[in-house]
Amino acid sequence: MSKLIINTEKKGEKINKEIYGHFAEHLGRCIYEGIYVGETSYIPNVRGMRTDVVEALKQIKLPVIRWPGGCFADEYHWKDGIGPKAKRKKMINTHWGGVIEDNSFGTHEFLDFCEQVGCEPYINGNLGSGTVQEMSEWVEYITFAGESPLSALRKENGQDKPWKLKYFGVGNENWGCGGNMRPEYYADEYRRYQTYIRNYNGNQIYKIACGACDFNYKWTEVLMSNARLHMHGLSLHYYTITNSWEKKGSALNFTEQEYYTTLKKALVMDDIIANHSRIMDTHDPGKMIGLIVDEWGIWHDVEAGSNPGFLYQQNTMRDALAAAVTLNIFNKHCDRVKMANIAQMINVLQAIILTDKEKMLLTPTYHVFDLFKKHQDAVLVESYIETSNTGTQEAPVPDLHVSASQNNNEIHITLINLSSNESRKIDMEIPGFNTKNISAKILSGGIHDHNDFSNPDKVKLADFTGIAKTERSFDFTIPACSVMGITVRP
Ligand code: AHR
Repeated sequence: MSKLIINTEKKGEKINKEIYGHFAEHLGRCIYEGIYVGETSYIPNVRGMRTDVVEALKQIKLPVIRWPGGCFADEYHWKDGIGPKAKRKKMINTHWGGVIEDNSFGTHEFLDFCEQVGCEPYINGNLGSGTVQEMSEWVEYITFAGESPLSALRKENGQDKPWKLKYFGVGNENWGCGGNMRPEYYADEYRRYQTYIRNYNGNQIYKIACGACDFNYKWTEVLMSNARLHMHGLSLHYYTITNSWEKKGSALNFTEQEYYTTLKKALVMDDIIANHSRIMDTHDPGKMIGLIVDEWGIWHDVEAGSNPGFLYQQNTMRDALAAAVTLNIFNKHCDRVKMANIAQMINVLQAIILTDKEKMLLTPTYHVFDLFKKHQDAVLVESYIETSNTGTQEAPVPDLHVSASQNNNEIHITLINLSSNESRKIDMEIPGFNTKNISAKILSGGIHDHNDFSNPDKVKLADFTGIAKTERSFDFTIPACSVMGITVRP
């Protein structure tokens, strides 16, 4: 029996809803087919945006979407994506399969899509191959209310009122695909570009500098030393790769050893955040600058027969558990982590939605976001779980993982059993809380279980009714390989 204690007396920071954010790049079938099918499509849509996808995203209260990249962002020229579609300039998507990008999904379409979903837009600007003027004008085009050449152009293109834009990224992976820069050089470039990102008519931009990848602590140190006074957020990218970059491993056909290796590597996120946060703390003890984990997720080999440049992969219960432990980790670091964006929203990497033309399915990872949505904007509360090691000798992992939050009087607990084949008995106490009502949902299955177009609902949330009240606590058994969301009310 493992003891689980929720201590509502010990509260942390607010868990920003943006921690549950997503990322959509012009890559493979994420934008085209995944989001945008065009107004004349036989697939039901509103101004070209698929209705089924919009509805699914609303259901999980998706709070923010990062766009247009990724590596694509640093070769994207926004003016190519506005105005009459027939006249829009085409470009080669050099990073992702060398396909022709026709720019039919641009600024207006992205902001319309965010409005339909009801989420914040997060635009990533082009520092690698774009100019300071181009970046500055993009913000003016979107947000300026008065008379200017850029606002006149926006009106000419059908949008009278300016949009609100909060999040703006100044380059992406500028240590790599965004220009192969050294941190000192990028820090100076960042300072220059961000100077011209203006706040017009009350719109306040939250400026995000390109941060490190994985364990590159030097990048964080240099950025914090040289540019901290000019940023609101600093990004971080970490992808979970089971084996190696060259041979990552299959999304569907994996061994039990690989299952545990993947989870062990997903759990590394905890140390990575802690280490980058420590560096940030030395420069910013008041934690004014947010750590923005704007790319994370599992990166498998592409599915056989799919375009290798499109990064299309399936998604099993293993992915769901990795997402769940990562979201628990973000919750626990919510004093520093202010936004996170899983890569990527649809048909790419650890997607929450897969489409096949008019068909759409929700992956196990989608259901994790559904289960965790009650943490959005709630306050972190202390949680303690007794764990023992499970896994293999090469990849030991804790058997249980938890986080908890409180929203008004409601407590939400997300508990994971990482064991591939053993259930765990739990004895849960919430001292001092007058529990009158308790309910739970569970996502559970075998480690290889997944949804596909012949069986789209194999993995889905179910009500969990096995919680028994004892004199002082609540007892239940969490099945192997499962994620549970428990809601407790007075
Ligand atoms: O998400 C796929 C790619 O991974 C992004 O374009 C890039 O930023 C990262 O390397």
